[in-house]
Amino acid sequence: MTTKKTFLSEEFLPKQWYNLNADFPKPMPPPLHPGTGKPPTPEDFAPIFPMNLVEQEMTPARWVDIPAEVREVYRIWRPTPLYRADRLEKALDAPVKIYFKNEGVSPPGSHKPNTAVAQAWYNKAFGVKRLVTETGAGQWGSALAFATKLLGLECKVFMVRVSYDQKPYRRLMMQTWGAECVASPTDTTEAGRKILAKNPDSPGSLGIAISEAIEQAVQRKDTRYSLGSVLNHVMLHQTVIGLEAKKQLEALGDYPDVVIGCAGGGSNFAGASFPFIADKIAGKQIQVIAAEPTSCPTMTRGPYAYDFGDTNQTTPLLPMHTLGHDFVPAPIHAGGLRYHGMAPMVSHAIRLGLIEPVAIDQVETFESGLLFARTEGFIPAPETNHAIAAVIRAAKQAKEEGKQKTIFFNWSGHGLVDLAAYDAYLTGKLKPYSLPDEEIQRALKAIEKLPKIA
Ligand SMILES: Cc1ncc(COP(=O)(O)O)c(C=O)c1O
Repeated sequence: MTTKKTFLSEEFLPKQWYNLNADFPKPMPPPLHPGTGKPPTPEDFAPIFPMNLVEQEMTPARWVDIPAEVREVYRIWRPTPLYRADRLEKALDAPVKIYFKNEGVSPPGSHKPNTAVAQAWYNKAFGVKRLVTETGAGQWGSALAFATKLLGLECKVFMVRVSYDQKPYRRLMMQTWGAECVASPTDTTEAGRKILAKNPDSPGSLGIAISEAIEQAVQRKDTRYSLGSVLNHVMLHQTVIGLEAKKQLEALGDYPDVVIGCAGGGSNFAGASFPFIADKIAGKQIQVIAAEPTSCPTMTRGPYAYDFGDTNQTTPLLPMHTLGHDFVPAPIHAGGLRYHGMAPMVSHAIRLGLIEPVAIDQVETFESGLLFARTEGFIPAPETNHAIAAVIRAAKQAKEEGKQKTIFFNWSGHGLVDLAAYDAYLTGKLKPYSLPDEEIQRALKAIEKLPKIA
């Protein structure tokens, strides 16, 4: 019998995070201060983030030590098991071995606490008492609610309106862990009021919720903002996924030909793939695929350009694939993939040819998620279904080419709180949706006057 799951004992929980910035063959372009047009100084970030995380954001170090207390909390669910999806393999009848890292075993049910715990710890070490954030699907908000409670901080979450309505259970998870959760846009911030004046029924977006959270975070000295994806330090924290997976695959005597993840802001994909991309840079032949929705095709159809991370233009300008900061994605169920931008590190890696992005329609992703649930048992999050769809495509391609392939992908979270999305699919309400070109052209007007990447 094949080994179904490979555990690592707790002593192998990584002691350091891996920073791909140390190994890029060409350095990333810097972020820019929108006022000066120059790279921001650490002090520019000071009202938003604690200085220890700002330093981490900019560090050139290849390895960063994981604080002992962060490892102590990680121990609740890490190391996560590596599964062999042999039952899915059989159903696909393709010459592939499929492995996945199950990040759904964390208490909130996704990879997000890998960075939430780290960010809560660094904020606390800096003397911060309260964190404010945004959330799409509610995965990030629930992860930060969990992390802040365990580390003794307060937490407020702006939850994108459409997810707030679709996903009441994640709000309840946040409240169970003691956080305050409100539907964004709200009328309690300038940013929210501006949006509501234009569109009182706005479904909200991550870009808007980020603006609201930053606006409130800078109003109080004891409060900072926390971002669940996109930034370098978030990518860094997530690398525990790929580092553990490498050890687990090594124990099995295996190594992937293809590495796959879904990408909203890029963090679970980065966490799973960056340790393998380091090997690719060193000469290994690996295909690395990032999957996004056709309704929010940031990597596949958005230009690589400087843009704001939020709708209200409060963040520094980030060099990234973007659909424009005022783009409001359709209210698809994969709420965590509804973001106009993409992590600068992931965007840079695409530009260097290290990553291949693909866009997949939501109907195909749910077909894939259902096949997964009906073979492997676990019900994936709608976001994770994008990775599974890409895995199934890769398996079919291997079959067509008659090539043996080992595929590793990140199972970023479970879908047990997303069953309304499965209801929509099972009752035929979910329709294919690809973003029209005119909508992209309209949204990109917002970045026309911003500096270009050299
Ligand atoms: C389960 C799951 N997967 C993926 C994502 C996308 O985020 P990221 O690209 O940062 O991993 C989210 C975001 O909420 C999520 O909840």
